[in-house]
Amino acid sequence: MKRRSGRAFSSKPIPDDMLNSILEAGRWAPSCMNAQSWNFIVLREPDILAKAHEALTIGNAFAKAAPVMIVVAARADSGCQSHRLPYFALDVGLAVENMLLQAVHLGLIGHPTAGWNEAQIKEIARIPKEYRILTVVFIGYEGDPNTLDDRSWKREKAPRRRKKLSEIVHWNGW
Ligand SMILES: Cc1cc2nc3c(=O)[nH]c(=O)nc-3n(C[C@H](O)[C@H](O)[C@H](O)COP(=O)(O)O)c2cc1C
Repeated sequence: MKRRSGRAFSSKPIPDDMLNSILEAGRWAPSCMNAQSWNFIVLREPDILAKAHEALTIGNAFAKAAPVMIVVAARADSGCQSHRLPYFALDVGLAVENMLLQAVHLGLIGHPTAGWNEAQIKEIARIPKEYRILTVVFIGYEGDPNTLDDRSWKREKAPRRRKKLSEIVHWNGW
């Protein structure tokens, strides 16, 4: 319950040992046949971050304050082939959730996103063409929500919603 996709980032840098433990948490995620399809491209040099910020959608402008972007990339053909399902995406998702939970454990916030231009980020982060970006996770200390733009402030303050358990859980069959 403590994990949430916070928007109010402080630009305070994240110590290396914290960042490493977040990446370790991702590395130890389970994956189908232990395929480990994930790659974590960590952007934190101010010049590179500034370029990457140009690739963000307007709605994700809040993320420019975060000191670290973890671009999560994988090959779409890299997961296990069971059931002809795209297990690489499930595996990468498990790694991302591990990293988000570790960030919370360390007193940080992590925000996964899909709102960016993939081609631009791939070029800036020098990601080979056969890889896809599944998400970009912004990590940082929590900052002051009053510095957010109106739209982000409203989203930050909105109540968190989930479907009821009765809508998604099927006891003893569907
Ligand atoms: C794959 C993925 C992509 C997302 N993309 C965005 C995004 O581009 N911008 C954004 O503000 N939030 C994004 N989110 C965050 C979701 O909006 C958020 O997880 C959801 O509303 C539930 O809120 P919570 O994480 O605070 O519980 C994304 C989450 C995931 C898992």
